[in-house]
Order: sequence, then structure tokens, then C-alpha cells
Amino acid sequence: MSTRREFIKQVAVASAALAIGDKLDAMGKKIPVTAPGRVLGANDKVRVAVAGVHNRGRALAMNFAQMTSDCEVVYICDCDSAVVPAAQEACKAASGIEPKYVRDYRELVKMPDIDVIVVAMPDHWHAAAAIMAMENGKHVYLEKPATHTPAENEMVLKAQKKYGKVVQIGTQRRSWPTVREGIEILRNGEYGLGTVSVAKSWYSHPRPSIGKFDPSPVPENLDWELWQGPAPHKTEFKANCLHYNWHWYWDWGTGEALNNGSHFIDVIRWGMGLDDYPTLVNSVGGKYRFVDDDWQTPDYQLITLQYGDRCSVNWEGRSRNHFPTDGLTHGVTFYGEDSCMWFDFRDSYVIRDMKGNVVKEAVGSLPVRVNDTFNPCEALDTIHLKNFLDGIRLGTPLNAPLIEGCKSTQLMQYGNIAQRVGHSLHIDPKTGKILGDSEAMKYWTRKYEKGWMPKV
Ligand SMILES: NC(=O)c1ccc[n+]([C@@H]2O[C@H](COP(=O)([O-])OP(=O)(O)OC[C@H]3O[C@@H](n4cnc5c(N)ncnc54)[C@H](O)[C@@H]3O)[C@@H](O)[C@H]2O)c1
Repeated sequence: MSTRREFIKQVAVASAALAIGDKLDAMGKKIPVTAPGRVLGANDKVRVAVAGVHNRGRALAMNFAQMTSDCEVVYICDCDSAVVPAAQEACKAASGIEPKYVRDYRELVKMPDIDVIVVAMPDHWHAAAAIMAMENGKHVYLEKPATHTPAENEMVLKAQKKYGKVVQIGTQRRSWPTVREGIEILRNGEYGLGTVSVAKSWYSHPRPSIGKFDPSPVPENLDWELWQGPAPHKTEFKANCLHYNWHWYWDWGTGEALNNGSHFIDVIRWGMGLDDYPTLVNSVGGKYRFVDDDWQTPDYQLITLQYGDRCSVNWEGRSRNHFPTDGLTHGVTFYGEDSCMWFDFRDSYVIRDMKGNVVKEAVGSLPVRVNDTFNPCEALDTIHLKNFLDGIRLGTPLNAPLIEGCKSTQLMQYGNIAQRVGHSLHIDPKTGKILGDSEAMKYWTRKYEKGWMPKV
């Protein structure tokens, strides 16, 4: 064990090599900062811009704006001008400051008076937006799923390494206090859990038909070229793709697997310490309800992930069938040796023995308003946002760093690839690469609109 004097000497040597504002990685090595950007101190207010403010982005803008001693929301960006006033008003009501409006994201990233960009645009934009932000010296709060394809996971990680920016993923459960307490218990194998080798997760919803629409003129308030961004540009526009229902079109969305599965598979990875990749991935499912509508992704899907002989885990999505599993519309179950542990939609957990008796449970005091589709976990989200801002100003370790988001996202991306090629995938657990499968590797990346492909 080193003495206090030795410790102080080590810190002094390490500090001598660091400049103010330098960030360290998990191994204590200095992260190179090659992009511009303001160096923030502990008491500086972080200047935040939010891109994509119809739904999630408006909630995040409002939640950041409420944190008046930590940050200011200075810009709102959206290519649909119709959604902007509500977001500006929400920020003004929360902080007294009305953010300025920028329509084109490519202009937003160039603004010098921004420290952070919150990316809450549709999934096909995530990687490109995050890379452009980092390249222009901005830290990024990146909504889940981290990216649209496995190749984009590689790109965003490469960009972070190159530009040295702080990136938090919007898997907010990683900051919820009672969920964190439960994960600690799980990882210690307490209350009869022992070694957990099996876990399942699920999500059910009564989503309606999105209809079968003919092309219609692009609304005047929408810049359709900007909305499509990196995805191949179509001249025709269908009114049932936005807002929100783009999730069910492969060009833009990633289906329920990455929409909600990415949250719950992330809890499984975190709880079981699954840092490597699975060895075998399978997916069954299809589009079974409202078969005549324009929805393209599966509305039922069961993705199974096997980690060699260590464990197997799964995620089941039922987008249009709301029957609960284990009494819950969505959640995670960890099967232990003498007990099982459940996480539901709240900041809570429960452990039951084999007879069904509760051996340990906890529910946090901060609410999740499950019927509020706009801002269900406002107070809990704020903890996640604060952790991000402290990561920038103080170097506090992030609860949901980019690497974790990319790994969890990739698990569900494998599931979608297996579903689309119709066979199991064999994966190298160290590198995450799909083995000997040229058909599946076609989905490793995607087609981009000319001139819009993200570059690092
Ligand atoms: N962490 C969570 O709990 C959570 C919850 C909901 C949504 N999300 C994520 O947030 C993202 C947005 O989801 P949503 O439900 O708000 O979708 P949405 O369709 O309601 O809103 C997306 C917004 O992005 C805008 N947009 C599209 N292209 C843009 C561009 N080039 N520049 C600026 N704005 C652009 C759209 O006009 C729209 O206003 C998704 O990736 C989703 O997965 C996360």
C-alpha cells in the first residue's frame, strides 16, 4: 500500500502533465482534445443547444432549462418550424430565457457560443449529428439508440477519441438512484441472487395502425431535405412518417428493438457486467397486426443473445399487443440461484424468493409518470443531466458514457440484422464482428445520401 506522501507525489507528477480542463479516460490517461471549445470550470454555466424539439428534445430542453444554476439553453434547432414555439416557451417558463432558433443543424454546430449539443433528432441522424458536434468542439448529450448501424458505432467512438469530447447517452436509468442501488445488490449476488446466468426484458404497447398513406405535398413548415439528412433522400413525402412514426420505417427508424429495447438490454448488460459481445444472436418475429399499414419493422420481436457458456439474455417487444409479462408492461427480470430480481418502469426493484415472497424491495421517492408520453421522468432525468454537466465541468465519471451506449445499441442492431436476414448470427465476443456472413455484413452499414455520409 502506498503512503500518503507517495500518493501526493504521484498526484503531483500526474498533475504536472495535465493542463486545466484536461479530461482523463477510465485508465487515467489524458484524452487528447483536438477540437476547439471552451474549457469549463466547476462554477461555469454550460451553454446548451437542443436539436430536434418536437417531443423528447422539448422535454430535455425544459429539463436542462430548469437547472438554472448549472446551465442555460441558448439555442433550439429544428427543421420543422412548427414545433419551435412550444419548445421556446417551455424553456422561457422554466428559466426566464427564450432560446434563439436555428433551422439548419449544419449552422448550429458552427455557433461559437455553445458548449453542448443535445441530439434528440430521429435515429438516422444520431451518428452524423454527434460527429459534427464533436468536430466543432461541442460536448454531446446523445439520445438512445446511440446510432443507426454498427458501422456508425465505430465512427462515433473514433470521433470521440479524435476530438476528446464528453458524450452521455440518454439511457437515463443508469442515473436513477434506486435502480443503481438494485444493480449494486445484483452485482454482489446478495439476497439469494448468487450468480445470475439468465435475464429477460420486454416492452409491450397498444400502438395503433399508422395507416396506408399516399404521397402528399411537403408541409411549408418542414425542410424535408434537412429532416432526411444522411438517409437517402426521397422526393415524395408521406404524412404518416412524422412526427414519431418514422421509428417504424427502416430508412430512419430502428424498430421497437432500438426504440425501447435499447433501454432494457442496457440494464441487463449493466447488471450482469456484460462488457464483451455475445457469441450467438437470433431473432424471431414479424409484422403481424394491421398488416396493411405502412409500418415496416417487426411489431413482434424476440431477440436472444448467448454469451458462450456463461449466460443467455433476451428482449421481447410487442408494439401492438399490450398484455403484460410478470404483471408488468415493460421491465427486466434477472434469474438468480435462489431468488429473482425485477426492475419495472419506475426507480425501483424487487427481489422475491422461489415461493414468491418479497425478500427485498425499494421504490425511490421521485416519480415516473407512466402515462405522460412527453416528460415521464422529469425529476429523475435531471440527475442524469447533472451527471453529464459534472462530467464536463469536473471530470466526474459519466453514468452512461458513449462506449456503453454503443455496446447496448449494437446488441439490438444484431437482433435487427438477424431478423432481416432470417438466420442466426455468430459473433466474435472480443471484437463484436459478425463472423463469416456476407449477407448479414450488408447491414453493418447503410446507404447514405451523397454528401451526407458522416466522416471522421
Ligand atoms: N431517453 C428516452 O427516454 C427517450 C424518449 C423518447 C425519445 N427518445 C429518443 O429521442 C429521439 C427523438 O424522438 P422523438 O420521440 O422526440 O421523435 P419526434 O419525431 O417526435 O421528434 C424528432 C424531432 O427532430 C426534428 N428533426 C429531424 N431532423 C432534424 C434536423 N435535421 N435538424 C433539427 N431537427 C430535426 C423533427 O422535426 C422533430 O421535431 C429518438 O432518437 C428517440 O429514440 C428517447
